[in-house]
This record gives sequence, structure tokens and C-alpha cells, in this order.
Amino acid sequence: MTTERVLVTGATGFTGGHLCERLARDGHSIRAVARQPDNCSDLRRWGVEVVPGDLRDPASLEKAIQGVDVVYHIAALFRPENVSRKDMWETNVQGTRNILDASVKAGVRRFIHCSTVGVHGDIKNPPGNEETPYGPGDYYQESKTEGERVAMQYAADGRLPVVVFRPGGIYGPGDLRFLKLFKGIKKRGFVMLGSGEVAYQMVYIDDLIDGILRCGTHEKAVGNVYILTGDTPVTLNRLVEVIAEALSVSAPRLHVPVTPVYVAGFILELLCKPFGIHPPLYRRRVDFFRKTRSFDISKAKNELGFRPQTELKTGVTLTAAWYTKNNLL
Ligand SMILES: NC(=O)c1ccc[n+]([C@@H]2O[C@H](COP(=O)([O-])OP(=O)(O)OC[C@H]3O[C@@H](n4cnc5c(N)ncnc54)[C@H](OP(=O)(O)O)[C@@H]3O)[C@@H](O)[C@H]2O)c1
Repeated sequence: MTTERVLVTGATGFTGGHLCERLARDGHSIRAVARQPDNCSDLRRWGVEVVPGDLRDPASLEKAIQGVDVVYHIAALFRPENVSRKDMWETNVQGTRNILDASVKAGVRRFIHCSTVGVHGDIKNPPGNEETPYGPGDYYQESKTEGERVAMQYAADGRLPVVVFRPGGIYGPGDLRFLKLFKGIKKRGFVMLGSGEVAYQMVYIDDLIDGILRCGTHEKAVGNVYILTGDTPVTLNRLVEVIAEALSVSAPRLHVPVTPVYVAGFILELLCKPFGIHPPLYRRRVDFFRKTRSFDISKAKNELGFRPQTELKTGVTLTAAWYTKNNLL
């Protein structure tokens, strides 16, 4: 395997961290852009060079990208809930443009852009695929849609060889997004909103990393978009059962109607916003229970040889074990 000089954005996060670990194991020379480079002991332990940089600061990116062959652009403003549309746009759209411009200037050989299946929103005729029209359902998804559009434009204009991948819900050791769900089930406080029969298709982190690396190396990938998620969707009811089994508790059975909770989320967002308080309930969280997200991943399978290996049960068990080991549950 050839050794490439790789730049990773978002390396202090869940996905970017796993990607760095794998690239380091494969012997690549890795540089990570971090907003707080002093807090990156894991990255340094793996031999990653950590440099300061912020997607909103083009000069920092131009400096960070010198001598780089391949960019994995994973960073996004994603988890924090109480951020404004403007903040999301500055990082996920303008920040993407900034790193694309820096990559053009530096003569980067390939740019791999992380999007999300959320650009499709609620899938009306499942399963969705790469041709399913955009339908973002909130302003995070809108910002990711626009970020993806911008990245594809650089490819279409011949300015940069770009590959876009859209992950499904990513889970595994190191993730904290699904922790609330695991915790609620473990503490028997979880209540299903709605029927629980909506489809959801998650991807285990190691499988996703394998797919991302295929985007970074496969000849056919350039100029293309790939959905990278698990092989089959599950209903939320089934997901909750699998989690309960992994945590050795009985599966929660309580359901409440989703619409009043969605309305309550909207009201709480309005009430909390002027005070800068994180609302205990918000529409994006409720959307998890309302939207169908099932996908056909044939394109990534056929063109890249992507093969998600991790059964849901195995992935959930490994995730639960990591939460337990880290006293998070
Ligand atoms: N997790 C999922 O289920 C999921 C599903 C679909 C798509 N995605 C996409 O996958 C990617 C990674 O998600 P994740 O779950 O790994 O996210 P994460 O753990 O929240 O990590 C986000 C990363 O982005 C960095 N970042 C945020 N704003 C930045 C800025 N202005 N400049 C530089 N870096 C910045 C963060 O750095 P700091 O440490 O400095 O905050 C962090 O390293 C994102 O693009 C997300 O949209 C995630």
C-alpha cells in the first residue's frame, strides 16, 4: 500500500477519531486539524500530527494543508442542539468552502467529503438511494445539503477530485449520540414515541471507516456520491429490543403519540431560545421517531466493494460494553 499524506478534519470527534486510528494503523502520515490542539493526547499517541485550525478561518486551513495528498473532511457542527442556523451555515457550508479552496490551492489529489443521509430527510418511497431527491428536514440537514452541493460543484467544475459519502446513523464505541437511548432503556425510563415501526438503518463505526477508506482509494469513486450505511434497516421497536437484550433488561413497551410531543418540542425550543438554554426536548430529537430512513446501498457495494460486516446485535453489544466500561450508563 502506498503511504499518503492525509489531512483529517473532525479528528477530535467520534468518526474522525476512528478514521485517524485506522489510517495510523495502516501506516499513513496523518495530520489532524483541531480547534484545541492541546487536548489531543489520543491522536498524538497514534502518531498523528495535530495542527491548529478552524473551518471558519481560511488562513489556518491553508497553513494546515501544506504538502497534503488526500483530505478527509469529516468535521461539522452536528451534535450541539442550541446553535443558530448562522453558526451551522458558517461551519458546514462556508467552512466546507474554505477547506475546498485550501485544497485546490495546495493541489490535493483527492477530497473526501462527509455528508449525511439526512440530506434526503424522510424517505417517502423506501428504500432511498443516491438518486432520491434532497429533502432536508431541519437546518442542520439543510446546511449539510448545501455543504454537499458546494463540494460536488468543485468536482463538476474540474477544480478538485471530490467524493461525497452519506453515512446513516453512526454508532459504536466512542459515540455519545446514542448514549441517551441506551441509558433510557437501561434505567427503564425510555418511552417510544409513536408506533416504533418506522425504519432506521445504522452503520457500525468500523464498517463506516472501511467505506470511507474505499472512497479515498477506489478509482471509480471520484465525482460520485455514496450512501454508506448498514445492510438492512430495522424498526425502532426492534432496535430498542436489541439494546435491551445487550443491557440485560426487559424491552420497554410504553408508547405515546408522537404529534403532541413534537408540538411540545417546538414550544420548548421557542421558550428556551431567548435565554440560550438547551431545550430538554426539541423537534430534531422527536424526528428520530417520525422519519423513515431506509436505504439501498447497492451503489457502494457494486462500485466500491463496500460490505458492512457488523450485525446490529454485535455492534450494539460492543457499544454497550464500551459505555459500561466507561461508566456512562
Ligand atoms: N454521528 C452520526 O450519526 C452521523 C450521521 C450522519 C452524518 N454524520 C456526519 O459525520 C461527521 C462526523 O460526525 P461525528 O458524529 O463524528 O461528529 P462529532 O463527534 O460531533 O465531531 C465533530 C467534529 O467536527 C469538529 N468541528 C466542529 N466545528 C468545527 C470548526 N469550526 N472547525 C474545525 N473543526 C470543527 C469538532 O471539533 P471540536 O472537538 O473542536 O468540537 C469535532 O472534531 C459530521 O460531518 C456529521 O455531519 C454523522
